[in-house]
Amino acid sequence: MISKLTIQNILDAVRIEEVIGDFVSLKKRGSNMIGLCPFHNEKTPSFTVSPSRGIYKCFGCGKAGNAVNFIMEHEHYSYPEALRCLAKRFNVEIEEEEYNPDEQQAISNRESMFKLNSFATEYFADQLYNTERGKAIGLTYFVDKRGYSDDIIKLFQLGYSNDEYDAFYRASINSGFKKEFLIKTGLVIEKENKKYDLFRDRVIFPIHNIAGRIVGFGGRILTNDKSKPKYVNSPESEIYNKSDILYGIYFAKSSIISHDNCYLVEGYTDVLSLVQAGIKNVVASSGTSLTTGQIKLIRRYTPNITILYDGDAAGIKASFRGIDMILSEGMNVKIVLFPEGDDPDSFAHHHSPAEVQEYITKQATDFITFKTNLLLAETAKDPVKKATLVKEIINTISLIPDAIIRSFYIRECSNLMNISEPSLINELNKQLRFKNKQKNSQSSYTIEEQTNISEYQPVTDYFDSLAQEKEIIRLLLNYGNKEIKFIVREKNDNSIIEHFVEVLITVAEFIITELERDEITFTNATCKKVYDEYTFLFKKGKLPESIYFLSHQEPDISEMATSILISPYDLANWGGKPKIYVPPEDYDLKKTVETSILAFKAKRIEKKIYENKKQIEMAQSAGDEEKLIQLLKQKKILDDIKKLINADKLGRVVIH
Ligand code: UTP
Ligand code: MN
Repeated sequence: MISKLTIQNILDAVRIEEVIGDFVSLKKRGSNMIGLCPFHNEKTPSFTVSPSRGIYKCFGCGKAGNAVNFIMEHEHYSYPEALRCLAKRFNVEIEEEEYNPDEQQAISNRESMFKLNSFATEYFADQLYNTERGKAIGLTYFVDKRGYSDDIIKLFQLGYSNDEYDAFYRASINSGFKKEFLIKTGLVIEKENKKYDLFRDRVIFPIHNIAGRIVGFGGRILTNDKSKPKYVNSPESEIYNKSDILYGIYFAKSSIISHDNCYLVEGYTDVLSLVQAGIKNVVASSGTSLTTGQIKLIRRYTPNITILYDGDAAGIKASFRGIDMILSEGMNVKIVLFPEGDDPDSFAHHHSPAEVQEYITKQATDFITFKTNLLLAETAKDPVKKATLVKEIINTISLIPDAIIRSFYIRECSNLMNISEPSLINELNKQLRFKNKQKNSQSSYTIEEQTNISEYQPVTDYFDSLAQEKEIIRLLLNYGNKEIKFIVREKNDNSIIEHFVEVLITVAEFIITELERDEITFTNATCKKVYDEYTFLFKKGKLPESIYFLSHQEPDISEMATSILISPYDLANWGGKPKIYVPPEDYDLKKTVETSILAFKAKRIEKKIYENKKQIEMAQSAGDEEKLIQLLKQKKILDDIKKLINADKLGRVVIH
């Protein structure tokens, strides 16, 4: 058992931003750090870390706690496991008190499996460097055939397993490892009471998780024997979930953050060759086809992925699926196609590192150009085929969650295919509507503005929300980066005492999160432009200052910003820098912001309810039963939101 003093020492030594920074890419925001929550799926960062208080809190899903809680939650560790992990990370010596039987029990399977894998890695490396066969066959293969440097072999902890059928089994049993874990990790197979090593006469690629621990192995055959599989891989286990692991991520993560981009390749050999060529921000999906879990793993570090593909037809078709998945996760994707017959690995072999880097940089194409060019070549001048192609490309665009980015690609597509933007938008809206319907979505407000021409009569001025919209913009531009304080009740199941923690969040974050939550959109074109641009920049971590909009290229924007931000009596002493009107609300900013959001939501909800009512009437008279059911579901949701607003319940964001 870990002594109380040790626990205190660990807690004193731990720096939460470093602990969380191992798993989440954090950006500084005021006195806090902010990033994408690792516990739920989000596209706007609402996961906040306070280094000074040593706590984290997600405003999206409500998860909160200190560094120990984080490690427990994230790594599925027990309390003592989490403490040990942190002690190791921050070099705190552990003073043990005696274990009771329960605690002995608590030394988990996982820990034993990690220990075994780490033993296996050393064993395979030893076989590679210190046995005759290892040197003659394994090392020669890596060095001569693959051209790997000693540095690369050591960094990735490559190894070799010899050709006896149970050598590893015996070695590990002799070193005191239990058979149970040999089977669980898959390193040993038991058949009719006989034990066989999984890897025999293969070179070994250990697979590291994000924290650098080894979760499994890949083993490549060294002969041309077609009767045996080229690669044998460890099976899934309690510590190896294939769809959440990317080969190379541990070595690539800091480079991914600093380059703000991640190269995605097919396998082990591609990763190694590129790293050797100086490209460190590279990972492989390795054997399995790309999964959303893997994409989310990358998204913790960067929103940008560049896929590197072989130049063969199968590779290209496979790329389409990957592209669609990446786009649906709200990430940006580029593609590099290698010359026919080459994969990144082979290309790196007959080119210098500089040539490899130049090729990748020059060839990187955005997905729309890539897909359009490829498909255009196929369809040539056949108008019918071209129409199918347009639908296919628009389908890909419709997967992008962000409307601004969608519209950017619509323009690009329009240029490339020589089709007018409105007709492309029309097709896009059709597909978005179809998807909404499929999702049984309650809102049709993701539909692009241009064809948001309602099938029903325009509503009266009563629903006009211009004043409220301007107010939101004013708060964003004046106070976007100001922090407001919330008191959060920490509910701890084991404790009778309630803890209250103060959490700071910026006005921008608060407003954006609130409006996105209820899918509240702006109606005034200028307000919408300002808000969309503001959100776009915010999400890129570049909070714009008010001066950005005051001097905006588009006149309606600069005009609105000026009228909103600068009051008449400020003009008198308006020097070089515009002076911003500071109203008394600055004293209670939180209240002002909350009230304004409520007022805006109330207006928009009223309008949505009115529109919904009209649509219900229409569906009734048309006898459209299916639509009616959908609209009634929507009505229920709108009514619920209205009730919350009337009860002044913005507070649901902060009270848990
Ligand atoms: P390759 O077939 O190119 O493997 O597959 P290789 O080792 O580079 O072989 P050669 O020298 O080109 O013939 C590329 C990647 O796909 C994964 C591996 O990660 C490999 O690096 N792969 C391939 C598997 O996981 N299993 C397989 O059976 C084949
Ligand atoms: Mn290859």
